[in-house]
Amino acid sequence: MALQYVTFCTVDELPSGSREVFDLETMSILLMNVNGTYYAVENMCSHEEYELHEGELDGCILECPKHSATFDIRSGEALTAPAFSPIRIFPVKVEGNDVQVGLNLD
Ligand code: FES
Repeated sequence: MALQYVTFCTVDELPSGSREVFDLETMSILLMNVNGTYYAVENMCSHEEYELHEGELDGCILECPKHSATFDIRSGEALTAPAFSPIRIFPVKVEGNDVQVGLNLD
């Protein structure tokens, strides 16, 4: 599958410390700016189907608001129970003023 970078927002629209949810046809993606570095993850906990976007973010560790499982948003790795499977992550790059997320669109 070919990876295609899609513009989600501009750099100005997602300042450091902010996050935004983008709903695609097939999934919801949570895009975050952590001290100037962007991270994108599927906005869905791997424990039960619960959205992650309102979870506490401590550095790069995102806590699910439902049962408090934590995930490393750099790798998607599940760090604490009750989640054991990783969440999906997506590469992010900045092109000019655009923040782009790499998606397999085929
Ligand atoms: S739904 Fe996320 S920890 Fe249970």
